[in-house]
Amino acid sequence: MPDATGKSSDLPHAPAEKGQTAQKCGETLLKTPMGQAIRTPAIGGFQRIRPRRNRVNAATRQMVAETRLDVSDLIWPVFVCEGQNVCQPIPSMKNVNRLSLDRLVAAAKQAADLGIPAIALFPAIEAAQKTDTAEEAINPDNLICRAVAALKKAQPDLNVICDVALDPYTTHGHDGLVRDGYVVNDETVAMLCHQAVVQAEAGCDILAPSDMMDGRVGAIRQSLDEAGFVNARIMSYTAKYASAFYGPFREAVGSHPTLTKAQGGFHKRGYQMDPANSHEALREASLDIAEGADMLIVKPGMPYLDILYRLKEDFKMPTFAYQVSGEYAMLTLAAEQGILDLPSAMMESLLAFKRAGADGIWTYFAIEAAEALLKR
Ligand code: PBG
Repeated sequence: MPDATGKSSDLPHAPAEKGQTAQKCGETLLKTPMGQAIRTPAIGGFQRIRPRRNRVNAATRQMVAETRLDVSDLIWPVFVCEGQNVCQPIPSMKNVNRLSLDRLVAAAKQAADLGIPAIALFPAIEAAQKTDTAEEAINPDNLICRAVAALKKAQPDLNVICDVALDPYTTHGHDGLVRDGYVVNDETVAMLCHQAVVQAEAGCDILAPSDMMDGRVGAIRQSLDEAGFVNARIMSYTAKYASAFYGPFREAVGSHPTLTKAQGGFHKRGYQMDPANSHEALREASLDIAEGADMLIVKPGMPYLDILYRLKEDFKMPTFAYQVSGEYAMLTLAAEQGILDLPSAMMESLLAFKRAGADGIWTYFAIEAAEALLKR
């Protein structure tokens, strides 16, 4: 069976190891190519235990594989923008584009046809529509609401996920309302509840609060229930770290100018988690679960596999990893330079999330990965 590179280095039959003869109980005699004899201690007189036997051909490797990646594991994040027939490249993310709604509907059909179960939407709105207080976030006719309605009409069975946070709508790029240089919690939560209800009214299946305000999951749950959306699911960004790996995303939604500029920029460390902490992620998870979260997210992905593992082990909740924009950029740029083989590195990076305990992965590679999985 070909491996990820399409080549096969397997031998048709497991070869015998040459140069080995059984000696007296407790040791094995090996001969080097130069004829030198080496005695190695072995259990019961032979080297009976050889982990490599289970790796000798593809069929055996498949039999013993502990984790598998499936198309149903993939969640595809997509950037949307205004206009007609727009497909605007994002320079730092090769093959990722901002799509106008007509192009989004076509892309969603491709995703659904491949068997991808969910698409997550992020708006890149016009700078003129951004305000300090993010009014556009709660406009029932905003870009995201129109996108959700168009998608649910065209692909009713594809789950649509909306980000619940204010950053695409604020002039300062923060996820909440800013007062005296501080992102205020409770007033922001009130806005998020409103935003979530507006998105649910548009037809959104899964609300994903990515803002890291305290108490937002419970408040959003209550607002959704009161508005009659008892089955709208909440996939909470439970452990979202204040990470440098979000750079390309911020460029994509246009929230970067104030946020990514060096250390002096107006960073998000006052509400997103400190990369130094992992016990704290467990506390965040207990709160989100108690407040009614249906699913959890760990973000970023690859540098935080330990957090993913701990959350899954402790809570056994449906837990998702987000392979973020910076991870995507690292892999694609390295491949472009000929440093990595992208198809293999992509699949290995996604499989690693499954091994660490993820039930699914948010990835900008969703389409390519689905195509590769279906070809297998
Ligand atoms: C903000 C949000 C961010 C991402 C998803 N939602 C960026 C941030 O917190 O500034 C990042 C996703 C990525 O980098 O791919 N609500």
